[in-house]
Amino acid sequence: MAEGGIPQPPGWPILGNLFEINPSQAIKSLFRLRDNYGPICKLVIVGITRISVTNHELFDELCDEHRFVKSVSGPVGQMRNGANDGLVTAHPNEENWGVAHRTLLPAFGELHVQDMFDEMYDIASQLILKWARQGSEKPINVIEDATRFTLDSIALSAMGARFNSFYSEDTHPFVTHMLRFLGESNLRANRPAFATKFMWSRERQYWDDIKYLRTFSKQLLRERRQNPTERTDILNAMVNGRDPKTGEKMNEESIIDNMITFLVAGHETTAGAIGFLFYHLLKDPEVWRQVQEEVDQVIGNRRITVEDLSKLRYINSCARETLRLYPTAPVIFFKPIDRVHPTVIGQGRYTIMPRQSVMAVLPAIHKDPEVWGDDVDDFRPDRMSDGKFESLPKNAWKPFGNGSRSCIGRAFAWNEIILITALAAQSFNLKFKDENYELEIDNIVTLRPKNFFMHAVPRPHLD
Ligand code: HEM
Repeated sequence: MAEGGIPQPPGWPILGNLFEINPSQAIKSLFRLRDNYGPICKLVIVGITRISVTNHELFDELCDEHRFVKSVSGPVGQMRNGANDGLVTAHPNEENWGVAHRTLLPAFGELHVQDMFDEMYDIASQLILKWARQGSEKPINVIEDATRFTLDSIALSAMGARFNSFYSEDTHPFVTHMLRFLGESNLRANRPAFATKFMWSRERQYWDDIKYLRTFSKQLLRERRQNPTERTDILNAMVNGRDPKTGEKMNEESIIDNMITFLVAGHETTAGAIGFLFYHLLKDPEVWRQVQEEVDQVIGNRRITVEDLSKLRYINSCARETLRLYPTAPVIFFKPIDRVHPTVIGQGRYTIMPRQSVMAVLPAIHKDPEVWGDDVDDFRPDRMSDGKFESLPKNAWKPFGNGSRSCIGRAFAWNEIILITALAAQSFNLKFKDENYELEIDNIVTLRPKNFFMHAVPRPHLD
């Protein structure tokens, strides 16, 4: 038992526990540590201490905003290199965070998100059209198309920018630069800083990628300033809105930081969620049958409206269960508010030192058998049905993060997930390209299914 009551695996001189985490399979490594050392574990890697929490009881304590705040650590800490004090990467109480948060909260609210529905629908129908045109013989790379959908959707709905990803075979350069930036941020977070310093060509690429993301966003902003519109989108909220508390406007750098933030945070996670949901719809024919039956009953053959989305209760349960099993932003970091005295959790058992970061491992917390029972690994939408969902223990299901630092784009993401599922069910019968496909998980910063291909066969009523 190590200092503070927190178990720590034996380590190597100087490097400490460096080899306990495989950077390309970090979540798997954290599950292994949980199995070997229990729900809280300490690693010391080249002198830097990391604590991971993997059960609901301890996580519930971390979510108490009187005792803990967000810590900008791990991959998110590295992403600050590109997005500075944008919403995701801001330290607690940074001034620009407060101004941006208060200015943008209404713009991301349920009502405004409903206003964005027509443009979201526009992009979603491009995806459906693509699948219909290419025919049922050609395999669909689900995650690539989901990424095209979510990227084009956030760029158009939030900023009036058309990336036109469905009109080109190649991925938009923004996505290439962004994925490399995210991947390298993850690797940097998992290797000692001195090692990074010697990786000259990777470093050059990393900073070039950041430069591209910033230049691209700056250009979008310039175009908007040169061509003002009456649109009620996020970019206009940033350019014209004022903080209701201070009356301040967001400054130029903060707008660019947040444009990058929305384009980055606003599509990877949702695309991953769509990918995992589709995987389970294909995997379980009975679930797929119920999804199609619900769409046929609630909507039939007509155009889907924004009001329909909340009526699709079974699909909503499937989406909740998907994000339980695969919270696509899988780790969030906390640190104690008390910067002088140690903070004790776990009924006096574990001591967290001031300024110490604690990593909450959501995929493990979402599979705590104390909350979910013995079948934690099974995809069971019925456990997320209305009524049961609301009765879950506090903080048992947290794919969108915690408290004041939780996801501002939740309503937007939810509409995307439900809409694309409903449209696919209305239009196609889906089947795996390879019936023996075993789910593989890509874990760069977010979680995504890997090598997942399917066929979409148009439903008879569309012939
Ligand atoms: C924050 C998850 C979609 C924008 C977060 C956090 C999580 C999360 C866990 C907290 C991060 C932390 O504590 O470090 C997700 C998931 C999504 C999703 C699972 C999709 C299924 C979106 C979308 C947008 C967005 C579509 C933008 C339109 C943000 C922003 C924050 C955030 C700006 C930072 C909020 C703040 O700290 O003020 N998200 N997100 N997210 N998300 Fe999302």
